Amino acid sequence: MTDLERHDYDVVVIGAGGAGLRAAIEAHEQGARTAVVCKSLLGKAHTVMAEGGIAAAMGNVYKEDGWKVHFRDTMRGGKMLNHWRMAQLHAQEAPDRVRELEDWGALFDRTPDGLISQRDFGGHRFARLAHVGDRTGLELIRTLQQQTVALGIDVYMECTVTKLLTAADGSISGAFGYFRESGRFLALQAPSVVLATGGIGKSYKVTSNSWEYTGDGHSLALAAGATLVNMEFVQFHPTGMVWPPSVRGILVTESVRGDGGVLKNSSGNRFMFDYIPDYFRKETAETEEEADRWYTDKTNNRRPPELLPRDEVARAINSEVKAGRGSPHGGVFLDIASRRDADYIRKRLPSMYHQFKELAEVDITAEAMEVGPTCHYVMGGVEVDPETAAAAVPGLYAAGEVAGGMHGSNRLGGNSLSDLLVFGRRAGTAAAAHAATTSAAALPEAALQEAEAAALAPFQRGGGENPYTIHAELQETMNELVGIIRTESEVSQALKQIEELKVRAKALTVQGERRYNPGWHLALDLPNMLRVSEAIARAALERQESRGGHTRDDFPGPSDEWAKINVICTQDGDGIALSRKPLPVMPPELAEIFEESA
Ligand code: FUM
Repeated sequence: MTDLERHDYDVVVIGAGGAGLRAAIEAHEQGARTAVVCKSLLGKAHTVMAEGGIAAAMGNVYKEDGWKVHFRDTMRGGKMLNHWRMAQLHAQEAPDRVRELEDWGALFDRTPDGLISQRDFGGHRFARLAHVGDRTGLELIRTLQQQTVALGIDVYMECTVTKLLTAADGSISGAFGYFRESGRFLALQAPSVVLATGGIGKSYKVTSNSWEYTGDGHSLALAAGATLVNMEFVQFHPTGMVWPPSVRGILVTESVRGDGGVLKNSSGNRFMFDYIPDYFRKETAETEEEADRWYTDKTNNRRPPELLPRDEVARAINSEVKAGRGSPHGGVFLDIASRRDADYIRKRLPSMYHQFKELAEVDITAEAMEVGPTCHYVMGGVEVDPETAAAAVPGLYAAGEVAGGMHGSNRLGGNSLSDLLVFGRRAGTAAAAHAATTSAAALPEAALQEAEAAALAPFQRGGGENPYTIHAELQETMNELVGIIRTESEVSQALKQIEELKVRAKALTVQGERRYNPGWHLALDLPNMLRVSEAIARAALERQESRGGHTRDDFPGPSDEWAKINVICTQDGDGIALSRKPLPVMPPELAEIFEESA
């Protein structure tokens, strides 16, 4: 291995989004020699796409807000399948994480009396999303990036990790990867590795996710012996762009609805009033007048139906389009132009204004947008200990979207950015503590050689097909057969197709050389996408009920039995094995919160 670059750290963080940077800052602060490895350039993480805000019960706009209300909203949004302790820690710690960001230089929008402004979002009882226009994720990354650079933390950019290295006892000893620009290999020895790799959206054809979201962390964790929890739950954000085709799937922030935008079908009907589920009936407005009152007066506790949790809104849009009441390009209309004045729209939603102007030639201050569901977030992920973010493999931690449990079957908007900060920090603390008492085993030469050979294999095989065809077919399969609405026969069909794609992927060929070769990069990402897609499909077949981001047409509605079960994935040879595990029981003092508000 002549061109292998080697380094030695206490903590290696894979991913430079909000969770990764927050973990790295914390590990560094705890005295650990820390490095961050990221697929993209520092500052370009997908976190920037969480536009609308950071959910935190700071009580700046509504004094009545507090962690218990946030905890309750999060659990109910996730249809009670969330790990209660994660949801509790998240609700309790999010306000401090926001204030800390401000201390580090984040410039939040303000209330008239100078506090951090908080806006409405779906499923949240009170306006509680701290925001910077509709560019909150960008501000969060900018702030954490500055802090990372100021602390002198090493960052390996444009570098993809292809394998986690483990010692003979199964514990973590480091990570192996390659620099995308040069194709050179990199080995990092460390007793603690934090996965903060984000999601899996690039397995779907229509997605808001950026190119990095190929399920790397989920797949690396499985290969190292960790478990994934509830992979069947995939969130389709109700509002992605639908036109023109080149931008289909790009996020249209929920802030448009949070700031007063409404959804209409081709007849001009505000159709969400027809889709209020019993579960949320008590707290959802049933007339336009009542719905409009919500934005200024929370005392009646009945929010507009456009602010139901995302799973409900996405299914409603899907139904309207299927019933032939969609917009010309297969979505529905999102209208803020007729409800707010142009100055307000441009001030509160500058990115949306710009995005539609530039990409679709639509002026959102004057006309409605066309929108439809887009694959946005995976609730399933690495099974972790809530206190430490530790996975089942000693020395391995996971935080942010790659970790499971926090959001149950459906995530509320805005809870992602706060999740990144709360559990990124916790992962950093625990990873540093582990490294302080453990030295990494020497990197096993045989495993390094194996990792190198696996990475180079696509160049050495002749006559195979290129990775792009296989990727396109996988995306089509997942979109059509394991999408918003699922059935046993369609998911089974998807699994058959994934098996065939796995065989073809093993024979694919890459042309050219190692220096910046996107075909090669995709060839190495593809096994991760296939593994994660198989986990999603197998878990979707297993869970015979409909809940949150998993709707089975053949099992409509939630089941009491499945309400108590987590579906666990492990790697089994070349495939995925499933098991069922009881949900942890919520302690009575937290269960009472739901009785109080019943
Ligand atoms: O709609 C949005 O701005 C997305 C935010 C989120 O997913 O949390």
